[in-house]
Amino acid sequence: MKRTKFAAAFGALAFVWMLHPNPAVAAIEPIIFENLDNLPADHIRIVLDGQEIPMETKPQIIDGRTYVPLRAVSEGMGLMVEWNEASRTITATNEESTILLTLDSKEAMVNAQAVALDAPLCILDGRVLAPLRFLQENLGYRVVWNGEARLILMSRQDIGEWRYSYFEMTEPYREVEALYINGEKTARIRFNGKYHDAEVAWRLEGYEGTYPFREYERKYIGDVKTPETRYTGTNRTQMVSIQGILIANKTYSLPEAYAPGEHPAAREAFNIMQADAQAAGLSIYVASGYRDYRLQTLIYNRNSALYGQSRTDTFSARPGHSEHQTGMAFDLNTISGSFGKSKEGEWVRDNGHRYGFIIRYPEGKEQLTGYQYEPWHIRYLGIEMATKVYESGLCLEEYFGIPSAYAS
Ligand code: DAL
Ligand code: ZN
Repeated sequence: MKRTKFAAAFGALAFVWMLHPNPAVAAIEPIIFENLDNLPADHIRIVLDGQEIPMETKPQIIDGRTYVPLRAVSEGMGLMVEWNEASRTITATNEESTILLTLDSKEAMVNAQAVALDAPLCILDGRVLAPLRFLQENLGYRVVWNGEARLILMSRQDIGEWRYSYFEMTEPYREVEALYINGEKTARIRFNGKYHDAEVAWRLEGYEGTYPFREYERKYIGDVKTPETRYTGTNRTQMVSIQGILIANKTYSLPEAYAPGEHPAAREAFNIMQADAQAAGLSIYVASGYRDYRLQTLIYNRNSALYGQSRTDTFSARPGHSEHQTGMAFDLNTISGSFGKSKEGEWVRDNGHRYGFIIRYPEGKEQLTGYQYEPWHIRYLGIEMATKVYESGLCLEEYFGIPSAYAS
């Protein structure tokens, strides 16, 4: 956290400097700083024209300003530094400039002109530290800050440096560096001679949106996503929704742990339908609604014991395959073929879609739904989808173009 704040503070400063480069900086070829140690570091280092300045006292950030050891940095810049004990002044000179700084004063003399310092000098471990900005501005230096590595790059020319950028996505995963000029990334890249030692892994990515919902995985190199995908050879059979409709049939199952309870919108739609039927003098009620995985297991096993498995499979869903586990299916009145011929059965068949329901296993569609005709079993799809399916004259499997068959 501390580090981030610090980097941000310095980053902002560096950015402002770059927007207002000192006009004294000559527009000549950039100087390329090679072999920089860009690894994260715990103290600030200064590299001047490619050479790291040795400093016993490290630069500091104080109140958002970067302070650097005056003697070490000035000498690195080619200035002669003299300390006058009596006047508590420091004189730094080269052929072009003379800088006179006084301890505790916010004013300096640069070539006999008074220049205000934005902060006075300070002393740390017996060494004088000066605001870097003052030196940089008055001596015409460019500064680039590399936050991660805590590197300050300085030069009177444009500053070029190569930073690690990415690694190639194909073997042997060559590492590529990008050229930065004055801290800005350019389009120029180069191979840095190293190879990324990456583990290749295929991770499950998802399923196709259309039948047969092929499962596919994506190639990762280390943690980096590649554009490459491949099919696993498996198709999805659990919790498939098509156009927002959760499918439960012989092909598409629900996990054992999926226990949503009765769907509130389905119940509400049923209640409205029931009231309208009542007004028409008809009585409809729910004989069996939501069933969890365990209850369906009991029902299916009992049916199998009574009728044998293959017959049972024509009218009773295996655990995980029942629509009743969705909480959106209701068996109405009497679980018998005669319901289809009753006034109630006919009314529900002709009007159910207006409330969001379809007869899920219609007559004549046994080969497609996988179940015998069940005039009593309705499924909530919402009014819009139920109306579309009703008007199509198709069963749900036909409408979505999906199968309903057990794998074994
Ligand atoms: N009777 C239907 C198919 C079920 O068991 O869910
Ligand atoms: Zn049912």
